[in-house]
Amino acid sequence: MSKPAVLVTRIIPEKGLALLRAETNLQVWPGDLPPSRVDLLELVKGKSGILCMLSDPMDKEIITAASPELKVISTYAVGYDNIDIQEATRRHIFVGNTPGILTNATADFAWALLMAAARRLPEGERHVRTGAWQTWSPSTLLGTDFKDSTLGIIGFGRIGQAVARRASGFDMHVLFYSPSHPPVEGIYAQKVSDLDELLGRSDFISLHVPLTPHTKHLVNAQFLAKMKPGAILVNTSRGAVVDQDALYHALKEKYIAAAALDVTDPEPLPVDHPLLTLENCLITPHIATAGRQTREKMAVVAAQNLLAGLHGTPLPYCINPQANKARDL
Ligand code: GLV
Ligand code: GLV
Repeated sequence: MSKPAVLVTRIIPEKGLALLRAETNLQVWPGDLPPSRVDLLELVKGKSGILCMLSDPMDKEIITAASPELKVISTYAVGYDNIDIQEATRRHIFVGNTPGILTNATADFAWALLMAAARRLPEGERHVRTGAWQTWSPSTLLGTDFKDSTLGIIGFGRIGQAVARRASGFDMHVLFYSPSHPPVEGIYAQKVSDLDELLGRSDFISLHVPLTPHTKHLVNAQFLAKMKPGAILVNTSRGAVVDQDALYHALKEKYIAAAALDVTDPEPLPVDHPLLTLENCLITPHIATAGRQTREKMAVVAAQNLLAGLHGTPLPYCINPQANKARDL
């Protein structure tokens, strides 16, 4: 019997590719840059499985181009806002993701951003490199202390919880807002049912919500105006959760002290983007999960999801188990 045809849209760690090579007719897109839309439309044709990145749009047109052979889309990410889940489900295509294994790496990185912004690490580094450092001074690059400050976490899934857990070493108060999550035993974090309360009380705000129509531009001008003056915003979720024009104004006026973003809209952010003119805005290139061990585990889980989809067995991590019973419309 011939092996099922599979597309992997970037070179992922070998552990994952090896699993796929053994059982499939594997095509790996060799570029560092994503395939163009034209290439992608061609590449997906006749494939039974696609292992994609968060930067590959798996929309209706792409899914249609891969049908009717396509059985499974496995994304190398926890977030899946790039995939038309409804269209996949309608066509009985299972979609898998890689939650859990990347939780700690992402929470670590949220903390790296939080600390860097609070203590003005990038500015300090620029200070040294540009020769602005002339002496020790009582007033150089004063930042925000952690002890007795308040961290507000928006979205209390695995990653939000892991961020809260890390706060306990810093003697902070922790609040969270997340209508669908109850408090978690063993994690010191107080649930607030009113987002405005969290905004008004938090010295640091960290975003851990998925991008959905409800969370798009959650952080807009009104949100920012309700934040404490001098507070700090951290985003490791998705760029479009933040209205970047509104953020630019809040940072420019120094109404909030700083922002640290691992995600932007679009990605990459053009180098002439206004946010990049601001000293108090730290931006990294969507690397929160980029730990070596984490990426290796993601490759294995993404491969396992894909193989399960090809075999018709339950995906280890499935976003749309209902695809099984979906009716063709
Ligand atoms: C990264 O952003 C992911 O969703 O895994
Ligand atoms: C991700 O794994 C989350 O649920 O926050």
